[in-house]
Amino acid sequence: MGKVAVTAAVVFAAAISTATAVAVRHHMKNSAKWGKALEILEELEENCATSTWKLKQIADAMTVEMHAGLASEGGSKLKMLITYVDNLPTGEEKGVFYALDLGGTNFRVMRVHFGEAEEQIVNEEVHTSIPLHLMVGTSDALFDFIASTLAKFVAEEGEDVHLPAGRQRELGFTFSFPVKQLSIASGTLIKWTKGFSIEDAIGQDIVGELTKALERIGLDMRVTALVNDTVGTLARAHYDNPDVVAAVILGTGTNAAYVERANAIPKWQDLLPNSGEMVINMEWGNFRSSHLPLTEYDESLNAESLNPGEQIFEKMISGMYLGEIVRIILLRMAEEAAFFGDTVPPKLRTPFILRSPDMSAMHHDDSSDLKVVDSKLRDVLEIPNSSLKIRKVMVKLCDIVASRGARLSAAGTVGILKKLGRDKSRKEGEKQTSVIAIDGALFEHYTKFRQCFEGTLEELLGDVYETISVVQSHDGSGIGAALLAASYSQYIGLEES
Ligand code: GLC
Repeated sequence: MGKVAVTAAVVFAAAISTATAVAVRHHMKNSAKWGKALEILEELEENCATSTWKLKQIADAMTVEMHAGLASEGGSKLKMLITYVDNLPTGEEKGVFYALDLGGTNFRVMRVHFGEAEEQIVNEEVHTSIPLHLMVGTSDALFDFIASTLAKFVAEEGEDVHLPAGRQRELGFTFSFPVKQLSIASGTLIKWTKGFSIEDAIGQDIVGELTKALERIGLDMRVTALVNDTVGTLARAHYDNPDVVAAVILGTGTNAAYVERANAIPKWQDLLPNSGEMVINMEWGNFRSSHLPLTEYDESLNAESLNPGEQIFEKMISGMYLGEIVRIILLRMAEEAAFFGDTVPPKLRTPFILRSPDMSAMHHDDSSDLKVVDSKLRDVLEIPNSSLKIRKVMVKLCDIVASRGARLSAAGTVGILKKLGRDKSRKEGEKQTSVIAIDGALFEHYTKFRQCFEGTLEELLGDVYETISVVQSHDGSGIGAALLAASYSQYIGLEES
């Protein structure tokens, strides 16, 4: 070999080894990053773990807090609000009633006709969403918007809608926020949750505010019942089935209501001496316990939220927050493990960009190349060309976060059953069934969440699970409110007299 050829060969060999070294280094760097990403994932899984034992502790803590909240006002993080609903629908309700449903992603106005047999419940409704600026504006602006939507709905009513002569229209108002009720048709707002923040409404009588707005617009309608969505859900389910003992909302927010023996409530005699039972709105979204598997991601979500320190249980479970938790985890993986490459995808820094329906779609992707995950990454986070490895991690992340939420809500439900003494096996010959009514988009549309919730109930209750029936109470917050307007109608008893 000549000198030139030898030199060329040496240079060539050197070039190859440099390229190899670069490739090896690149590979090592990548695998180090990948290793770091997996480390974050493993640590997350560990910190979100909800063993049966831990869930039982949480159920116990829920029962303890329920007792404490009932015993004295401010005695617990659980408000355990008296709803003045001591008369649940029986299936005998008749007539036309209106409902307003405010407190989730949508705002709805409904007219419901309760009749006979097949025509038992016929409803018409309009959906709209509350414009973002009204969620953080003034009380008048919000209630004027609500009243005008209602007035428009009534103005468009067909000829076929008629109330008995001389009767006022009656409305059940589902207002799904913590309210201290003063009667079935009045109550003051304690605080906002779920992204609403209208300072001047706090402490106000919600029915008073709505009534003033109805007067401003000139609509003659009586607000007959002010209800929480959990209470509407309970009422709706009770219309079909008197064995309903509790209702749980798994939607934008989360909460539960249940039927309590009146004598378990102090000062009962002063409030409603004639009732034997009363529905309690627990406001369990604000539950907190040292047993909750909180992570650094929950801490940052909480710190950046509109209501830091509040609604900790809700922030771990409900539809408003699940996608956001995933986003915060992804951001850390992108920053510390270059999970999506050398630059952090800018969209990942936008709070609430990843919504729970997106998360659910990714979680349910059963295609071999996870193409739904790929399209969500592209469309929502503007991350093109994700590898299959990355997509698999995405599914795993959704699974960890959703399962933790579903399992915690099942533990909360067991806490209620314990409080009611319905967590024990039936004695021979007993037929008692405890029906739990559930509503909310998370339960209705996020199949894996629902399956995990139900599976966990069974895991925690063992044989007692056979005595429990979980039913979906469709549209509880709408139809349930109209039903309560019927149960508490000002015209009740007039037919007979
Ligand atoms: C929030 C509200 C509560 C409501 C729940 C479900 O937790 O504070 O009143 O029932 O969301 O919508």
